[in-house]
Amino acid sequence: MSENTVHLDLGSGPTGLDVYQSTVGQPGFDIRKLRATTGYVTFDPGFGNTASAHSSITYIDGAAGVLLHRGYRIEDLAQQCSFLEISYLLLYGSLPTAAELATWTDQIGSQTLLNEEMRSFFDAFPRRSHPMAVLASATNAISTFYDVYRRPMRADEIDAGARTLIAKLPTVASWAYKKSIGEPYVYPDAKLGYVENFLHMMFATPVEETTIDPVVVKALNVLLILHADHEMNCSTSTVRGVGSSRANMFTSVAAGMGALWGPLHGGANQAVIEMLQAIHDDPDATIESTIARAKDKNDEFRLMGFGHRVYSNYDPRARVLASFAEDVLARMGQDDPLLEIARELEAAALSDDYFVDHKLFPNVDYYSGIIFRALGFPLRMFTVLFAIGRLPGWIAHWMEMNLDPETRIMRPRQLYIGEPERPFPALDDR
Ligand code: ACO
Repeated sequence: MSENTVHLDLGSGPTGLDVYQSTVGQPGFDIRKLRATTGYVTFDPGFGNTASAHSSITYIDGAAGVLLHRGYRIEDLAQQCSFLEISYLLLYGSLPTAAELATWTDQIGSQTLLNEEMRSFFDAFPRRSHPMAVLASATNAISTFYDVYRRPMRADEIDAGARTLIAKLPTVASWAYKKSIGEPYVYPDAKLGYVENFLHMMFATPVEETTIDPVVVKALNVLLILHADHEMNCSTSTVRGVGSSRANMFTSVAAGMGALWGPLHGGANQAVIEMLQAIHDDPDATIESTIARAKDKNDEFRLMGFGHRVYSNYDPRARVLASFAEDVLARMGQDDPLLEIARELEAAALSDDYFVDHKLFPNVDYYSGIIFRALGFPLRMFTVLFAIGRLPGWIAHWMEMNLDPETRIMRPRQLYIGEPERPFPALDDR
């Protein structure tokens, strides 16, 4: 076997497959010609063993529990950066200088306003709409109000589209929330920073000034950073997949939001709180019975906020959040009984053979909801907050996919197990 080739023998002699090295992490071999040369396709539901692209944005060492963005450890970024700094890093590959950051912040800050006609769009949704549905629809709709973004092709248009989306998403998110509670929409305030402005639009009302607590700003900044990217996860792969048909960035991101909403992905942050609340409220539910249900293969219940396709160790984002939750609650002068339940449930799971053998640890969604609650966000906004955080990651991947000469329209194969060709029966003969 040559250093750069692996050989696969399917019965008619070895087929050479080129090996690609990664900078760090596992190598891969190229199967693009496998079907043409051997007649075989590969079978990989959920693409758990398939690298869909070369990427230089994020690296995860799942066994060690390490997460790097553009080579920097998530723990360092979360402690020392602003969310807009991370957005710049993900999109452009390097941390901004002070001057670059100032320009970038100004550019984002100047574009937070939505086209006024968007108001009627929010008005049209039913009052009880889930804000994730409104968020995804409105994100798609932005491209219809800003003509150029329907089909941005030139690099400057793509950059402007990225800034527009990052600038406007908090406005869209807060208006989706205001709609759901029947309060008037609050306009952005250009004097405020990115996170402050979002909190202002979420919580201000025409009759009451909001005081923006710096503890909340700092905590939300960390939370958004911790959600900013996670390489080829379900929503990001969706963004890439939709974008691979040359759909525009706005539509691709809106599709990613749909993927994120599911409870096995970003919707888990809402599901975790619902699970903890159910344990709290149900006198018959105990930590032991919850663990037993999660292990029972006849019960579709899973321990929400536990397990991950890539991590076989503690998710480093969850590690940050586990200690951060206590800190935020203490600073906010709050005591949340769900945190206690979460701690007990985690301890019970981590010492249970099933969870140990399956290498199931808390993921980012396990503690994030407890912090979102403490910061005053309603449950139905949790996945929206995840989406605001994940936006720069989605855009960075869309941009990388768009520039990559190896990108092809996403179109997997299948193993057909239906009927072979058969004669068509007339209606009376069926
Ligand atoms: N509770 C109980 N058992 C679990 C859990 C869980 N949370 N997660 C995985 N398992 C078990 C499975 O039952 C399976 O057991 P088996 O091999 O004995 O049949 C084994 O672990 C592997 O599970 P898969 O579903 O094959 O793992 P996959 O990589 O496909 O799924 C996922 C990963 C979806 C995250 C899964 O762990 C899960 O459902 N977790 C709960 C939902 C959740 O927290 N999602 C958020 C993920 S993080 C994020 O998206 C931001």
